[in-house]
Amino acid sequence: MTKFDELIRMQAAVQNRSILSLFDMPDRVSQFSAQTGDMLFDFSKTNLDRDTIDALLALIDSANVPARRDAMFAGEKINETEDRAVLHTALRNLDGGPVTVEGVDVMPGVLDTLARMRGFADRVRAGDITDVVNIGIGGSDLGPAMAVRALSPYHDGPRTHFVSNVDGAHISDTLRGLDATTTLVIVASKTFTTIETMTNARTARAWMMENGGDPARQFAALSTAKDKTADFGIDPGQVFGFEDWVGGRYSVWGPIGLSLMIAIGPRGFHAFLRGAQSMDRHFCAASPRENLPMLLAVVGIWHNQICGYATRAVLPYDQRLGLLPDYLQQLEMESNGKSTQIDGTDAPFNTGPVVWGAPGTNGQHAFYQLIHQGTRIIPCEFLIAANGHEPDLTHHHKLLVANCLAQSEALMRGRSLSEASTLMAARGLTGAELDRQARHRVFPGNRPSTTLAYPLLDPFTLGQIIALYEHRVFVEGIILGINSYDQWGVELGKELATSLQPVIDGAQPPTGKDGSTAALVNFIARHAD
Ligand code: F6P
Repeated sequence: MTKFDELIRMQAAVQNRSILSLFDMPDRVSQFSAQTGDMLFDFSKTNLDRDTIDALLALIDSANVPARRDAMFAGEKINETEDRAVLHTALRNLDGGPVTVEGVDVMPGVLDTLARMRGFADRVRAGDITDVVNIGIGGSDLGPAMAVRALSPYHDGPRTHFVSNVDGAHISDTLRGLDATTTLVIVASKTFTTIETMTNARTARAWMMENGGDPARQFAALSTAKDKTADFGIDPGQVFGFEDWVGGRYSVWGPIGLSLMIAIGPRGFHAFLRGAQSMDRHFCAASPRENLPMLLAVVGIWHNQICGYATRAVLPYDQRLGLLPDYLQQLEMESNGKSTQIDGTDAPFNTGPVVWGAPGTNGQHAFYQLIHQGTRIIPCEFLIAANGHEPDLTHHHKLLVANCLAQSEALMRGRSLSEASTLMAARGLTGAELDRQARHRVFPGNRPSTTLAYPLLDPFTLGQIIALYEHRVFVEGIILGINSYDQWGVELGKELATSLQPVIDGAQPPTGKDGSTAALVNFIARHAD
């Protein structure tokens, strides 16, 4: 018995019906969509009806989502396995009043750091820095990297680069061609212990010293560990701290967003925070039926836990949102990819879905074949702006929009055997060959998708979108009974990599390793120069 049994029974009863037929209800679109400001979430192209959406939204109350949400915003320690509050929302609480953690208002510290970031960003933008290199990984990389690319039309600061991988190729390719005397290196690491980031930071420092730069002046750090940034030799005046209640993958709103602030300027960054803050307010105030994060969450639960679709594709029709699928992959999979519930019991159902995707229209010429005609059903989440940023290229944008809407229509509508047969007959085929060829051209259709639409991908809107997904992940986590804010699953690999290092260095034999690992160590050793 699980909390989803009744919904699974309801789904079984309707699973073969046509989504298209649901549009016989004249007000389906208004019933199965919601809006906040100018942002529209359309989930009418799914197999949800009034009964199933009501049953899904009942989970919001039965799982105590409103109480958990209020506890998060109030600074309670809802990250129970790390004994921490979860307050990335405080970073964008620009004029929202005090937020207390253990009786202490955190807002003066947040606003003070933001003001210091603004001063630093203004100085960098006005000075002789030509290039900014952000060194970080996971949440200390993906947020600013995704946002800088997304907001390139607003980028009027120095060029911005991101180095994350410990593979020397990444830093080597990035630094090649940069001027060490005019490059600012930002070391972004909440813990300031992450092996990839610290290795890259040391390499960058050596490069700067060898090439005439001045690390004392040209290094900044973003971290909760000020003792460690000092040990590294970074000027405290160029260290921007934050607290342990900001999770890595939720950290773009504070110091980890410094590279974004330098790229688009403090005003643009302010608008980005304002967008997120407006989504926070919507999340706290709107009824479940109108609440975009809650609706996105229950649609996600419907497709994953109820229908059993194991993955979901994020398909932004926006080239500049090329890193959004990667960003959401970390946000969703590191947050909800767990099998133990908060009370320590095993989850009796599948938890977070596999999240993947790529921008349209490129994906159409790569993996959409499987989405349309493969044997697995993959719910698709489209994102599209009404306007592009290229006034001379509006015909491109119109084509982009047409493709986005055409894909969701095609997924739902499909093409029947008789329609395919008519096409083949028009090409002169007959008999068995007509039938054989027609079968390859059948699209089963009835494949669900949602669309998030908005006027323009500006800083405010990007802030809204990211905050929307953050809250969606949180609501899904509550319904699944898991803590979305820890990430113990990344620890074991880190520990084993540390213990393997002396083995790879040749200082220790692979004693105690399994046969495969020992054989791979030996193969690498034989072939290493
Ligand atoms: O991948 C695990 C993780 O802890 C992420 O959650 C985090 O964003 C990333 O590593 C980087 O950590 P840090 O900012 O401490 O270097």
